Amino acid sequence: MPDDGAPAPFPGEVRLQSAADLADPRLAPYTTLTDAALRRDVDAAHGVFLAESSPVVRRALDAGHAPRSFLLGDRYRETFADVIAAHPGVPVFTGPDEVLTALTGFHLHRGALAAMDRPAPRSVAEALDGAHRVLIAEDLVDHTNLGAVVRSAVALGWDALLLTPRAADPLYRRAIRVSMGTVFRLPWARADGPLEEALPALRAAGFATAALEVTDRAVGLDSPELEPVRTAERLALVLGQEGPGVRPETLAAVDAHVVIPMPAGVDSLNVAAAAAVALWELRPRDTPAA
Ligand SMILES: C[S@@+](CC[C@H](N)C(=O)[O-])C[C@H]1O[C@@H](n2cnc3c(N)ncnc32)[C@H](O)[C@@H]1O
Repeated sequence: MPDDGAPAPFPGEVRLQSAADLADPRLAPYTTLTDAALRRDVDAAHGVFLAESSPVVRRALDAGHAPRSFLLGDRYRETFADVIAAHPGVPVFTGPDEVLTALTGFHLHRGALAAMDRPAPRSVAEALDGAHRVLIAEDLVDHTNLGAVVRSAVALGWDALLLTPRAADPLYRRAIRVSMGTVFRLPWARADGPLEEALPALRAAGFATAALEVTDRAVGLDSPELEPVRTAERLALVLGQEGPGVRPETLAAVDAHVVIPMPAGVDSLNVAAAAAVALWELRPRDTPAA
């Protein structure tokens, strides 16, 4: 440690001490963090995603994602020292809270961010290869809901996620954080058209298809009638958008509708809550030995 008591700099460390230091082009991925729409453009333009908080950054690294740089509040130097040591040559930007807040637009209360190379998108066929339980997020636009859904899916043994073109980005900072980094363990892909066009291919690949929705023809999640869906070897389950729910075209195209009975007469559950209940009940089961 230097004589003045200041901690020794990390190799590759760049100190951010004033607004003038924020002009470094390598900091561009860390701007406009609170605007999801803008982020979509920034992430695409820079080919990055942002992992936030020490556990999430560690999970991204464990999953093999490549860091482009780290951004660290001064208070988190020690907590993060092992990560930095393990990635020599990756720039480390550090600074006091107020300078980092000026850069990112919000208080970096979780201490650390990493800009990481955004992986090349998977095709639908790649994401679904070998999967037995596929969750389909139809136009789910809220990143918090999507992150919570991903966390439940991974926790309950679902093995792939399919998104419609309008659905939120699973690699948006907030979605990643709410998923607690479980998104790095879930193969996912985006369909390039409406779901009714993708469903025939799923059926041809042996998937039973169902929509989780409150409809007149829906079978209760606890009903014995649901057994063929519950025990299907391959199952694809559609979740609907927060406001409108599953689109009528999709409802017409799936094999079954499934409802979580709500005896209290409430209209619907939050989509992430509904997903947690249904993903448990429709989880992959061991097929009994012949
Ligand atoms: C908040 S709901 C959509 C609004 C809902 N269609 C309504 O009219 O109140 C969003 C999604 O959550 C799921 N969902 C919520 N409650 C449900 C329930 N009781 N049974 C089945 N799915 C439900 C469905 O996938 C639905 O499309």
